[in-house]
Amino acid sequence: MADLWGGRFEGDTSELMQQFNESFSLDQRLWYEDITTSIAHVTMLGEQGIITSEESEALQAELAQLRTEIEADPSILSGNYEDIHSFVEAKMIKRLGDTGKKMHTARSRNDQVTVDMKLYVKRTLGELAELIEAMIATFQAKAETVDALMPAYTHLQRAQIVPFSYYLDAYVAMFERDLKKVYQAINLLDENPLGAGALAGTTYDINRQRTTDLLGFRQVQRNTLDSVSNRDFILDALQVFSSLMVHMSRMSEDLIIYSSQEFAFVESSDSYATGSSMMPQKKNPDALELIRGKAGKVIGLMNSMYTIMKGIPLTYNKDMQEDKAIYFEAYDTTNACVRILTGVVDELIVKEDRLNETVHDGYLNATELADYLVRKGLPFREAHGIVGEAVVYAIKATKQLHELSLDELQGFSNKVDADVFDYLQPEKIMQQGIKRDMFR
Ligand code: ARG
Repeated sequence: MADLWGGRFEGDTSELMQQFNESFSLDQRLWYEDITTSIAHVTMLGEQGIITSEESEALQAELAQLRTEIEADPSILSGNYEDIHSFVEAKMIKRLGDTGKKMHTARSRNDQVTVDMKLYVKRTLGELAELIEAMIATFQAKAETVDALMPAYTHLQRAQIVPFSYYLDAYVAMFERDLKKVYQAINLLDENPLGAGALAGTTYDINRQRTTDLLGFRQVQRNTLDSVSNRDFILDALQVFSSLMVHMSRMSEDLIIYSSQEFAFVESSDSYATGSSMMPQKKNPDALELIRGKAGKVIGLMNSMYTIMKGIPLTYNKDMQEDKAIYFEAYDTTNACVRILTGVVDELIVKEDRLNETVHDGYLNATELADYLVRKGLPFREAHGIVGEAVVYAIKATKQLHELSLDELQGFSNKVDADVFDYLQPEKIMQQGIKRDMFR
């Protein structure tokens, strides 16, 4: 391995240390960003007269050429290099000789790796935002196709009746918040650290505004010590992933429960389920279980990064190199889960008959009966007690509240009239409760 820093050393780095230290196997994913930021850097160096315009142009052309070559054949990204930055610099030196050796003037790998990662995180967060938008659109389209009512739960006990579409809308609301968090994370990172040098800038007359414009950042990142130490933008992204994963995991858990024969509200389509090697009858909601499991992994990755960052002194320390393995893994996982959950919901088989039948059991209209008595003049707490007794009676009689006779109901309160039954039908409850306009 050709070290970038050989001059200071008399002995060679051990083989073991080289393997331990290298990040090329991971950070080669930053090749596009590394070349892009290098092009901006040498463009600025040429304009400022720090290198000649011929040298600048030769470097720009050769960097662009390398980018095209890697695009066509990613296997070029191989060999014994410490990291992607050494790889790109070595290629430039090989192709341009002394001019290649000037590329790293007025720059350190400390500002370079941060600017590369910022561009990478910005791009991938943008891609994630698109996936979340597609997921939201899929949920909304699904909601349009399902008319059924369903029991909603607290403590996993039947509580009240809602339209199935309203259940889906709850997750739409969560994902809309997550989307805002993605944009917030992009907004916060949008400052250019390039030019911070190793930590204290450089004595060269560089133009940081120029590279900021070339790279499309909103502004220059002000403090150079902060610039090279900052991994907040990775922590923020990991928090967004965790939030999204928690929401997707809760929905997965709902749908896993709803897929059991005991509930039988929904069924995964064949494309998102798997079977058992032994039990021929099985159809398992593996996609959802994997999302639930991977949520744990992503939260763990976020915790890892926070733990790495909490104790390192200013400014750059090699600990921070671990950010790549963590970010890539967390991003890939979250990206895959969003696409999978979108597919699962798109193709979800919703058993509408079963759902509509379910809302007639389980005393889901008990609250409405209490509200009815309140309308007839009873204080709510008293009405609550009366209905509680009616429920106990109905359970013993193995009947639902709306199956009790008028006489039986009047036995609990003389406020009950024949119109009570109008208030107890699930469809009627819906007309009075959740209205269409509550969706938006
Ligand atoms: N591979 C390194 C990283 O990911 C790049 C920065 C190296 N800087 C240094 N001073 N060794 O953090």
